[in-house]
Amino acid sequence: MQLKFLPSFVKRRGRITKKQESSLKLLPNYSVSKIDEIYSESKKYKMCNLEIGFGNAENLIYEAINNPSILFIGSEVYLSGIGTLISNIKEKQIQNIRIFPEDIRLLFDQEEKIIFNGIKIICPDPWPKDRHRKRRLIDEFFLNMIHKFMKDKAQLYISTDWENYAHQISCAFNKIDFFNKSNKNLINKIELTKFEKRAINEGRKIFEFTYEKNLNSEELL
Ligand SMILES: C[S@@+](CC[C@H](N)C(=O)[O-])C[C@H]1O[C@@H](n2cnc3c(N)ncnc32)[C@H](O)[C@@H]1O
Repeated sequence: MQLKFLPSFVKRRGRITKKQESSLKLLPNYSVSKIDEIYSESKKYKMCNLEIGFGNAENLIYEAINNPSILFIGSEVYLSGIGTLISNIKEKQIQNIRIFPEDIRLLFDQEEKIIFNGIKIICPDPWPKDRHRKRRLIDEFFLNMIHKFMKDKAQLYISTDWENYAHQISCAFNKIDFFNKSNKNLINKIELTKFEKRAINEGRKIFEFTYEKNLNSEELL
């Protein structure tokens, strides 16, 4: 089968606990697959934010609990992370999270709809080896893809703990006109995710990018 996008992740089942396994059976109750579904759900909330590659979902859960008037869409392909998220949704009775359990580019490949007030990508897979660089998620093509689904002045937050990925992200932002640098203090997020903690323990620094979509940037296309 020909893949539409070069995988930006290693699709691993991971070790799935019994609890995650039974939570995963409930995935259809929480999942969304079509952009239209997200669009109509988002109309019931004040705002709609997306987190791409939520991992163990600690940031998504933290943000959803603290902002019940915002709808959070979480995208992840890692099954044990999705199971952990569903267990938390049930235990903490969280109402405002929906899951897109696939490569996020399959969502952005659908009909364009302006939905998101914010998008976060915390520590995307770094693909540090030279021969794997083309698998990195964030490049000019990806920024071009996502901005079409963001509202004017929507916030975009990206972090990475790999210096040469940070350089690549910075170059991608320099090549496009539809995002402006924005104030980091506008970003609401958990202090550190699992991958951010690991990076710091291993002596790496976290590079952060906070941008805002330009007003009327569609006209620049
Ligand atoms: C390095 S982990 C970081 C997880 C979490 N954000 C954290 O900071 O702990 C990157 C995650 O992004 C997910 N991912 C990578 N490419 C993705 C894509 N195209 N769509 C959705 N998730 C993706 C991976 O499955 C992985 O769990």
